[in-house]
Amino acid sequence: EGLTALLSGVGAGPIPSIPGDAPVAHPLNRPIGIYRACLADILARLAGCETAVTYESLQTPGTLANGDLVLPVPRLRIKGKTPAEQCAELEAAFPNNHPLFQKPVAAGIHLPFFFTPLSLPRLVLPYIFQRQQCYGNHVHVGLRNIESPDQGRKKVILEFSSPNIAKEFHAGHLRSTIIGAFIANLYETMGWDVVKVNYLGDWGKQFGLLAVGWQRFGSEEELAREPLKHLLDVYARINAVFKPEQEASKKARDEGRDTAEIESQGLFAERNAFFSHMESGDEEAIALWRRFRDISIDRYVATYARLNIDFDEYSGESQVNKTTIERVESLLQEKSVYEQDNGSWVINFEKHGSKGLGVAVVRGRTGTTTYLLRDVAAVLDREEKYNFDKMIYVVSTEQDLYFRRVFRTLELMGRSDLAARLQHVNFGKVMGMSSRLGNVKLLSDILDQSREAMHEVMRRNAVKYSQVAEPDAVAEKVGISAVMVQDMSGKRINNYPFDINRMTSFEGDTGPYLQYCHARLNSILRKAGLTRKDLVNHLENHADGLDADILMDKPHAVDLLRLMAQYPDVTAMALKTLEPSTVLTYLFRLAHQLSSCYDVLQVVGAEGGRHVVLARAALYEGARQVLETGMRLLGLSPVER
Ligand code: ARG
Repeated sequence: EGLTALLSGVGAGPIPSIPGDAPVAHPLNRPIGIYRACLADILARLAGCETAVTYESLQTPGTLANGDLVLPVPRLRIKGKTPAEQCAELEAAFPNNHPLFQKPVAAGIHLPFFFTPLSLPRLVLPYIFQRQQCYGNHVHVGLRNIESPDQGRKKVILEFSSPNIAKEFHAGHLRSTIIGAFIANLYETMGWDVVKVNYLGDWGKQFGLLAVGWQRFGSEEELAREPLKHLLDVYARINAVFKPEQEASKKARDEGRDTAEIESQGLFAERNAFFSHMESGDEEAIALWRRFRDISIDRYVATYARLNIDFDEYSGESQVNKTTIERVESLLQEKSVYEQDNGSWVINFEKHGSKGLGVAVVRGRTGTTTYLLRDVAAVLDREEKYNFDKMIYVVSTEQDLYFRRVFRTLELMGRSDLAARLQHVNFGKVMGMSSRLGNVKLLSDILDQSREAMHEVMRRNAVKYSQVAEPDAVAEKVGISAVMVQDMSGKRINNYPFDINRMTSFEGDTGPYLQYCHARLNSILRKAGLTRKDLVNHLENHADGLDADILMDKPHAVDLLRLMAQYPDVTAMALKTLEPSTVLTYLFRLAHQLSSCYDVLQVVGAEGGRHVVLARAALYEGARQVLETGMRLLGLSPVER
């Protein structure tokens, strides 16, 4: 009803229904969906084909200059005339004064359509205001069973970040955190139930080594003061002592000698013994392990909060069910894919039709579980606990082969159905983070250093700096944006160099620049002495005059509104690509369009009186809202000033 009212306000009829309409493209979710449905209806009548066909044929051009929607005429598959002839005919027959579309001008076999400038402020702007921060979400109640809105909701498990206790939080963990949080937000906005899981590296032989190190170098005081740093330190020290032994073993292996003898002595033996105790549930061993784990999680929770991230579950390699592990192994045995090799249990993937996957150890020679075995069992555990529709692992491309093995193992166990629900979302490397940020070993170090670097940049402009009420808090938010935006600028798979100067600059497509845009939009309303409520009021009561007031300097405002209308299409696209850059690139386009508006579309001191001031303020507030929503989707915290 609301949409019909908006449409009749511009002189258009109700939205025609689209057969087989994909729910996400619904007009209640996307303003372009309104235009699309209406256009499909007109074109179907003109071309004499089904609305479903014209609807599916319409595409969104990559740039505004090429229109808001475009019809590649051959897609209609009309027999007889050439596509160019058909295109010319459609152009000639298209109505002259349609309230939603300008008369198209054919470009070869393409028919591009531009929305009428009049319809934009009257249709798109109120649409955005009504939805507020839900604009861009695809979960509108109109598409659901209103009695039980949760019915048919799908569940996705997102596993990301997953650092290793007592080890460095490296750039790979940072990227997993940033990208994973974005994908989690994205699925939430699309109406999925999302479970965020942090799968800690909290088990394995390295933990045995940490325990051995603790006996020699551990200090309760240090642990209480800076637990993560101290555990790192203990691990680094014991590792240094351990190194010669490890090298000797490696050398033996390379020379084809048996390593059993070497590994049955010294730190090797101590490490393995402790880990075996852990695996057999020895109380003392478990108590120590649990202390380290709990302390670490405590600190992680606090640090993730700085990034607006909270995990639903801190699971980890230690949490995998013993009986599930046994179940995995007996299934592997049943299917005759489990083999003994030199005392360990392996899968030879090559033998089972998986070229390139090699041979993987599933249970080690000392009888302990491996990373692979724990991961496969964790899938079954999670299936039981959550009955998920989809599970996504956000892990560096270095583990591509590894995840293919995990998924393939499930298939070999006869669980192709389960493997089909899993997805590994990968990403490339960050080069030179530690060397450029100084000695960073923990997530909190990375965030602290970025904040300090940002604070330095802010101080360089003394005048502006003096106007910021809480410079430290602002430096924190903007500094974090700097790191995140740099990370999300390219395709996930690309490697990039960590460039502290570039990313903290207010110029170029950086986090600080986006923050600046948001703060500037905020100040427009503030300086005009207006509240959001004033604007909502104005939109409701002066719909008919909006176009005249906003569009005084047409092209800038028109293009801004056209871009604003695209936002829900961008989030829908992002769900397909799972690329933060899909959203980020759009936000920069919006920001650039905005900056070209400020000079020609002033608010304070605008000519034409209060109406114009209100209408333009509404335009900017609508844009600010889209910018804020997009920034939050990416996990950024927009600053007010
Ligand atoms: N802790 C691992 C690492 O630091 C990442 C875990 C990835 N997730 C998984 N299910 N294996 O490399």
